[in-house]
Amino acid sequence: MEQRLVFMGGRRLYYQKDWPQFVNQLNQGLKPADSCVLFLDRPLEAKQIRALDQMTGVLCFALENASWSDLDEWPTYIQGYIKDPSNSRELEYALEQAKRNFELRVERDSLKFKLLLEKERRSEIMQSALELAEEREISSLCEKVLTKIRKLLSAEGASLYIYLPEENLLRFAYVQNEKLDLKFKEMKLPLDESSIMGACAVGKKLIHIPDVYQIKPEDSFSFNTSFDKASGYRTKNLLNIPLLKSNGDLVGIVQVINSKLEDDFSDDEIEIGRALSAHIAVAIETALLYQNIEELFEGFIKASVIAIESRDPTTSGHSERVALLTIRLAQEVHESQQKAFKSALFNHLQFKELRYASLLHDFGKIGVPEKVLVKAKKLYPEQLDVMSSRFDALILSFPEKRKYFEEIWSKILEANEPTVLVEDLKANLEHLLGHEYKILDKQIPLIKDEEWAQLSVKKGSLSETERGQIESHVLHTIKFLEKIPWTRDLKRVPSIAAAHHEKLNGGGYPYGLSAEKIPLESQIMAVADVYDALTAMDRPYKRAVSQEKAIAILRDEAKRLSLNSDLVQLFEQRAVYRCLLI
Ligand SMILES: [Fe+2]
Repeated sequence: MEQRLVFMGGRRLYYQKDWPQFVNQLNQGLKPADSCVLFLDRPLEAKQIRALDQMTGVLCFALENASWSDLDEWPTYIQGYIKDPSNSRELEYALEQAKRNFELRVERDSLKFKLLLEKERRSEIMQSALELAEEREISSLCEKVLTKIRKLLSAEGASLYIYLPEENLLRFAYVQNEKLDLKFKEMKLPLDESSIMGACAVGKKLIHIPDVYQIKPEDSFSFNTSFDKASGYRTKNLLNIPLLKSNGDLVGIVQVINSKLEDDFSDDEIEIGRALSAHIAVAIETALLYQNIEELFEGFIKASVIAIESRDPTTSGHSERVALLTIRLAQEVHESQQKAFKSALFNHLQFKELRYASLLHDFGKIGVPEKVLVKAKKLYPEQLDVMSSRFDALILSFPEKRKYFEEIWSKILEANEPTVLVEDLKANLEHLLGHEYKILDKQIPLIKDEEWAQLSVKKGSLSETERGQIESHVLHTIKFLEKIPWTRDLKRVPSIAAAHHEKLNGGGYPYGLSAEKIPLESQIMAVADVYDALTAMDRPYKRAVSQEKAIAILRDEAKRLSLNSDLVQLFEQRAVYRCLLI
């Protein structure tokens, strides 16, 4: 049969011999006629099939000849079989058959598509449920809930209300609407059936309203139009889904607003909302429980800090300030591009861990005797009182020596100061050791051995034993913190706090750890701790130093390898200390 190009009713018909022309048009970006019919005298090659896939409205018929008989089955691009396309009756019949085939195929494809969509939706519900179950932070969870439900139900907006059982109220928690820039406003709703939300909560039943401006008169609730009037927004469809636990208890309500695609939410979408609601309820309940535990723990930490600082009121606020400085410096480390801190990155859980460690770093001071903790001079106040009474008695008993005793007493007062050097003390008082006077038949020593031992401490106001007692606070801190069953995310709190007095040169306490064994977090905390101890308000045993002087001391400590010099530099450069002024 001679192949020729046939035009019929404006629809173009091509023979396979015209393929090059056909593809050429396509390559030039010119689409072949919107509808065209192709008569093929042999199967297409793979390249040709790919080209065919890019076209729309093309019908392919197999021309009767031997090359098709070798095939086991018809290729999918063949819509029919025709002997002579120039025979208009035969062509009409073939086109009619093709049309029917095409309709069937469209229907089959649409069913396939629906099935696929359904499958996707099911897996999206499962995926959403899993993602929601993993979220522990209540505000991000609520945002996620609204985003997911809006996506799954193709809705313009959604709001979330959380039920407060103690007050029997609904708290408006979160809102999203892609057409409105909504500012969140805290609001509580009573549980009565006059409002849509109230009716949904009381009845614990899903309420679907296709158009809120056409609520049936027999319904107990009405729609409050004030928001629409004020904003110009038109609320139409509302889907109120109660969030119920498996025992039926109400957790909250999700309200979904206005379908984006259709006139109203479809039955399928309502089912999806219903299916997801149980997962949302469990996720919210878990997150609220988690939040309660967090609040409980924060309360415990605050109480612990108060307990620490009530032992020594002069250090009031130290733990909080060290926590502020530590976290600020850690944030700078996290953001720093410096080589020293390239790999030092902290996530929000690690920041939390560091904050707890900083707040509790001095908890062990609870185990140090209070009189040692607040000791300002070399002698305890009561020791000085006893000595003072003794000198009064000596003056009364030996009035002729009054001047002599008064001179010794003033030297004792001088020696009692923590700044006095032990050499001066020895030159002034050591020769008096062993001197005794008889009062009322009793031999009274001028200076008792234990008083001398206290006065002759080498540095500051503390004896070696007392210094040991103060330093033991870290061991008490470790003991205390190790008793707490920290969660996996917070398990390093004890070891971070334990090393806050360690020094890079190995001269710190309690373990004298070497630099590489001291956690970076503890090194950060050490800088914060020293800075605050220096700049905090006057204490009985030391005066506060200025910020400049404190930085200079930090630099000296870094030179001596007591502190990490990179951290001290960052502390100074980024003015970390300013966080205390806010
Ligand atoms: Fe400490």
